[in-house]
Amino acid sequence: MINRKSAREIEYMRSAGRIAAQARELAGAMVKVGTTTRSIDKAVHEFIKSQGAIPTFLGYRDYPSSICISINEEVIHGIPSSRKLANGDIVSIDIGVTMNGYIGDCAATFIAGESTEESEKLVKVTRECFYKCLRYAKVGNRVSDMSRAIQQHAEQNGYSVVRAYSGHGVGTKLHESPEVPNFVERPRRGNDPRLLPGMTLAVEPMVNVGSADIKVLDDEWTVVTIDKKSSAHYENTILITEGEPEILTVCEEAT
Ligand code: MF3
Ligand code: CO
Repeated sequence: MINRKSAREIEYMRSAGRIAAQARELAGAMVKVGTTTRSIDKAVHEFIKSQGAIPTFLGYRDYPSSICISINEEVIHGIPSSRKLANGDIVSIDIGVTMNGYIGDCAATFIAGESTEESEKLVKVTRECFYKCLRYAKVGNRVSDMSRAIQQHAEQNGYSVVRAYSGHGVGTKLHESPEVPNFVERPRRGNDPRLLPGMTLAVEPMVNVGSADIKVLDDEWTVVTIDKKSSAHYENTILITEGEPEILTVCEEAT
């Protein structure tokens, strides 16, 4: 069952999304050589609390921190620590915010210090995957139309998309239906829902330079690429409407 949000629920989703997007900006501005990932987690935690909101990830399935920070070959779910960011690190930051019981989920990838042509391309293409997908986030399409846009753009650029983790519906729970995969399965398996107004989805391309294969480290959270090549992540929570989709994890009102 895919729940569609009412006007009042959408207002709550906007508030949560705005705070999540502001937190993402704050975190991105802290990505500098020598900064510890824990200090970014702490600053974001305090910001979210200062807004009267709750960091969604803290305690979610016993996750120990308020945000996820995944560096280089780490794909997602990296746990903040005393690790200092090094020159050239590719730093993916994922943030969830609960406000009035509704959740905004977003992520972005930043580079510490000096980027290379390769690291910049990876970050750019991953972000573009989200925006390509957004064009298909319309009534009349199915979830797989969004998934295909992500996969095609990543693969056209010589990258692979992670298959073991997906985007998802989001609302009062962090993970609601439907699943929003970053690839299309052939032959088609399972259901492929049609998009309807009021659906709120976390769309999150995870793009690898090398193979799509991943494993989870012994900390039971950190997802890394098996070939140790870099990975990037970009995510927004969006609302399906009768017209253009609305990005909910934005800092300012779209004009
Ligand atoms: N954006 C991720 C997701 O939706 C973040 C979950 S991290 C966790 O799966 F710590 F909360 F699990
Ligand atoms: Co998510």
